[in-house]
Amino acid sequence: MSPAVAPRLPWLGRGRVPLYLAPMARHTDVAFRSVCKSHGAEVMVTEFVQSEALLRDRAKSWEMVDFTEAQRPMGVQIFGATPSSMATAARMVCERLRPDFLDLNFGCPAHKVIEQNAGSGLLRCTPLLYEIVRAVREAIPETPLTAKMRLGWDVDSIVAPEVAARLEALGVEAIAVHGRTREQGYSGSADWDRIAEVVRAVRIPVIGNGDLRDGPTAVRRVRESGVSALMVGRAALASPWIFREIRAALDGDPAPAPATPELRWRTLLDLAEQTLARADARLGGRDIRWMSAKLQPLTQGLPHCRRIRDGLQRCRTLEDLRELARASLAETPAI
Ligand SMILES: Cc1cc2nc3c(=O)[nH]c(=O)nc-3n(C[C@H](O)[C@H](O)[C@H](O)COP(=O)(O)O)c2cc1C
Repeated sequence: MSPAVAPRLPWLGRGRVPLYLAPMARHTDVAFRSVCKSHGAEVMVTEFVQSEALLRDRAKSWEMVDFTEAQRPMGVQIFGATPSSMATAARMVCERLRPDFLDLNFGCPAHKVIEQNAGSGLLRCTPLLYEIVRAVREAIPETPLTAKMRLGWDVDSIVAPEVAARLEALGVEAIAVHGRTREQGYSGSADWDRIAEVVRAVRIPVIGNGDLRDGPTAVRRVRESGVSALMVGRAALASPWIFREIRAALDGDPAPAPATPELRWRTLLDLAEQTLARADARLGGRDIRWMSAKLQPLTQGLPHCRRIRDGLQRCRTLEDLRELARASLAETPAI
């Protein structure tokens, strides 16, 4: 079989498997994406934003899809259930931000999203899903269009291969597949055999997603499923350096040394500094307490992680956080 290609997405389908950072609401903002980029993430997508929210033109919604030039290639992800609003929002995004691609969300399992028939809700209502794709495709002919989907609504309705083939016919240029159903949420494990079925159903590149946590597994997933790219989500929240680990494994290079407490703290402080630098005064000036949920995953694997998490909640400023890092490293035995 010849490799899948997407002429307008030149990082895909040229024999090298690019590494995507998965979109994750409330986490993968500009600051976190720069941290991941510095650790080897190659392609990134903004968290999802509702088409109607963009149409209301609120600054907050545009902040959610913000990115920097250094972060390209960048996709902007939108969701919704009304073809005309999705098309208008897509056009606005492409005119204002000129992303490298526009991504449609057909995977979100959250109740408040599916009750509007959006996200993975569209997988049980495929005629509407196709109408949305048709409308968006027509609205932004000059911008590459991609989609991110789950396998189906539940195990009895796995629609990903047939939906993917239809999306390809409608002009979608690559598809990311999270190997779970809506019913699974984030439980159980991602089914990569089903992702492989999607690969076989289309000629456009498929980006495989679900439970990638180490280099050797990533290599096996590519070999067994034939995906053109890999997308890493939750593992990157705790270990942004996973991109380097996976790249080394894919290239047959030695695995990088395991992350030290110093690296964890340096990365955590870097994220806090970049997050604060981008936050506006509304969020409390120098106060960093609001960002503890963003920082917390990076404490995973630190000695006395529980105590550090408690300490993190109490940090009011960057200086408090630096002090917590110094104290924690001082009591970490040298390796
Ligand atoms: C906190 C969180 C927020 C997420 N937000 C989005 C989102 O905005 N758009 C989207 O397509 N998927 C979203 N996802 C799903 C991830 O992109 C990814 O498909 C999923 O986590 C599986 O990959 P993983 O096993 O590598 O984490 C989110 C997942 C998490 C955990």
